[in-house]
Amino acid sequence: MATSYIQIDQYEEVARKTVDPAAWCYVESGSGQEQTLRGNQVAFEHIWLRPRMLVPMQAPDLNTTVLGTPISMPIAAAPVGFQKLLHPEGEATSAKGVGDARTLYVASSSATTSLEDIAVAASGPLWFQLYLFEPRSLSEELVRRAEQASYQAIVVTVDTPFYGRKERFWRQGYSMPGHIRKANFEPGVDPMVSSTFDWGLFDWLRSLTDLPLVVKGILTAEDARRAVDCGVAGIVVSNHGGRQLDGALPSVMALPEVVEAVAGRAEVYLDGGIRSGTDAFKALALGARAVFVGRPMLWGLAVDGAQGVTQVFDILREELEYAMVLSGCPTVEHIDTSFVESATGIRGY
Ligand SMILES: Cc1cc2nc3c(=O)[nH]c(=O)nc-3n(C[C@H](O)[C@H](O)[C@H](O)COP(=O)(O)O)c2cc1C
Repeated sequence: MATSYIQIDQYEEVARKTVDPAAWCYVESGSGQEQTLRGNQVAFEHIWLRPRMLVPMQAPDLNTTVLGTPISMPIAAAPVGFQKLLHPEGEATSAKGVGDARTLYVASSSATTSLEDIAVAASGPLWFQLYLFEPRSLSEELVRRAEQASYQAIVVTVDTPFYGRKERFWRQGYSMPGHIRKANFEPGVDPMVSSTFDWGLFDWLRSLTDLPLVVKGILTAEDARRAVDCGVAGIVVSNHGGRQLDGALPSVMALPEVVEAVAGRAEVYLDGGIRSGTDAFKALALGARAVFVGRPMLWGLAVDGAQGVTQVFDILREELEYAMVLSGCPTVEHIDTSFVESATGIRGY
């Protein structure tokens, strides 16, 4: 096992000094009073590990699959828009960095690089994240283009009928520089998200594509059951990194009820507040097949482009390896709920 002596928060510190303060505020802020933003991380501190001793192994095996695609570890890149705020090459660079870490990249439909250019630059597997834009023909076009560009799944974000109230950011009075635009659309076209969709959405998407559908932004057992009934292949338990409904459950608190409701009928993933490989281990123990990280990837991007992104993922990998060795877990398949104890009662445990 490799040992680096640098942690993710050191990337955050250096990135903070590198990036324009208002752009930094856009990345870091949450919505409202940021209770959910804070809660995402704090919730992990209330989950404790139950390690097992004298389990012989050389190095733990982190290899896994997501919807059948092999990845080198169960930690992948969340969809994040507007990455040219952090690096001149934006998403093309982060997609390369994530692929070089041999894991999955989810391209945002609000990227500042077109989905085709991301596909050319990427060095690993790709999924495409779809916002439900008005008019619907714009969303439809994106799905077709993603299929054409060989993306392997469509991740539809359902927690954004409106953009959240990012009050800390709004107070900056910042307007995006001219070159920061959603590159998937013609210049001058800046579509708004739609609040008119219902669960019939999945029939509509199914009529457009045979790609597997993943739903992102689920926080309850009720919605998880509905999503599975609608035939989704995967569910991302997420509150959008605390950027949508402030006061919504920290995602790791919502995870156990979603896992229970899904009962193996779809893959369940988590994002929100993952800042170490140990956090990832806790989420896997609570039933996530993989976790996604958002802001830490951006810190790596700002500090050192593709290399910085790869390094951030390599640090997370190394920390997960340590968590597994010290807990007595030789492979990711061995990680289960018996490895976690929650002091404050993660629901169901
Ligand atoms: C700057 C920024 C932009 C984001 N853009 C998108 C996006 O375009 N689509 C989407 O589904 N989620 C987006 N998200 C949410 C992430 O996919 C993810 O849910 C969140 O960042 C996870 O939390 P973390 O940052 O604590 O890892 C964005 C998050 C950030 C911080």
